[in-house]
Amino acid sequence: MKEKIVLLAGFGQLGRLIQESKPTDTELYAFSSRDFDICNRAQHELVYKDLAPTTIINTSAYTQVDKAETEHESAFAVNALGPALVAEAAPKDCRIIHFSTDFVFDGAKLSAYKPTDLAAPLSIYGASKLAGENKLRELRPDSTIIRTAWLYSAEAKNFITTMLKLMAERDALSVVNDQFGTPTSAHGLAEVLWRFVANRDLKGIYHWTDQGVASWYDFATEIQKQALDLGLLKKKIPLHAISSSEYPTPAQRPKNSLLDKTVTYEAINFSGKPWQEELNIVLRRLG
Ligand SMILES: NC(=O)c1ccc[n+]([C@@H]2O[C@H](COP(=O)([O-])OP(=O)(O)OC[C@H]3O[C@@H](n4cnc5c(N)ncnc54)[C@H](OP(=O)(O)O)[C@@H]3O)[C@@H](O)[C@H]2O)c1
Repeated sequence: MKEKIVLLAGFGQLGRLIQESKPTDTELYAFSSRDFDICNRAQHELVYKDLAPTTIINTSAYTQVDKAETEHESAFAVNALGPALVAEAAPKDCRIIHFSTDFVFDGAKLSAYKPTDLAAPLSIYGASKLAGENKLRELRPDSTIIRTAWLYSAEAKNFITTMLKLMAERDALSVVNDQFGTPTSAHGLAEVLWRFVANRDLKGIYHWTDQGVASWYDFATEIQKQALDLGLLKKKIPLHAISSSEYPTPAQRPKNSLLDKTVTYEAINFSGKPWQEELNIVLRRLG
């Protein structure tokens, strides 16, 4: 089947990389947030009528986790109403692929979260993303939802770019060492997305991150080590491990963000790489 794809938020961190990695025989229409506001019902109706897509990929999101604590309405509009409008306006046989987050979990579990584990978000961002998942599952049970975590890329502002800047400017840095997850390359996730596109039988919730476990402190330590090796940093500075309580933020984050990918590995016949290898690829792109 020849795919005709509408990509919502085609110029965000993940959206850009999905465009970049598009298979040559795929027809893709990528919209920016300016051309297509996911909260505008009329735009959904117009675009889907005009293009008759076979698949809609939604990467749009309100992703400012701390700001969401005081901007409930904006977060829920983009993260919950948005997916509901996609579901309501999409043509009957059109597949919907949507992205969600580890922040739907409270992080209290002592092992990696399975897609079937109970969601219990700690933050407004997490609650709004969960509301979006639930709307999609209610309105279009055939949708595909890919939850991911700790995303970064060479092209957008993220933890890596922030760390590199601070490591170049400061004499020492404190980094949280009691939240665990898996740093995940958005470049790798974009490739994984295309494996999902290729198999229309994959419905329901799937988890994807790179392989391995790290705290933010571990992640920063590895960024510094690799960046020094690659010549992206000139000097080594001391990194201090601190607890979340020493770095208070408006939104509470899960202590455990690990996602169990067993079901995904089988579904797409691919299990990705250790996060340190993906980090190396991205740092080389930055160099
Ligand atoms: N980044 C992470 O660490 C992370 C972790 C777990 C899950 N995720 C999920 O992964 C997906 C992709 O995230 P990302 O890192 O690519 O985030 P991102 O770079 O912040 O991209 C989000 C995109 O959504 C667009 N957007 C915001 N409001 C919109 C609206 N009303 N209508 C249409 N588009 C709108 C933004 O456009 P503007 O920039 O023009 O506002 C931006 O292009 C999201 O579902 C996110 O929740 C991300």
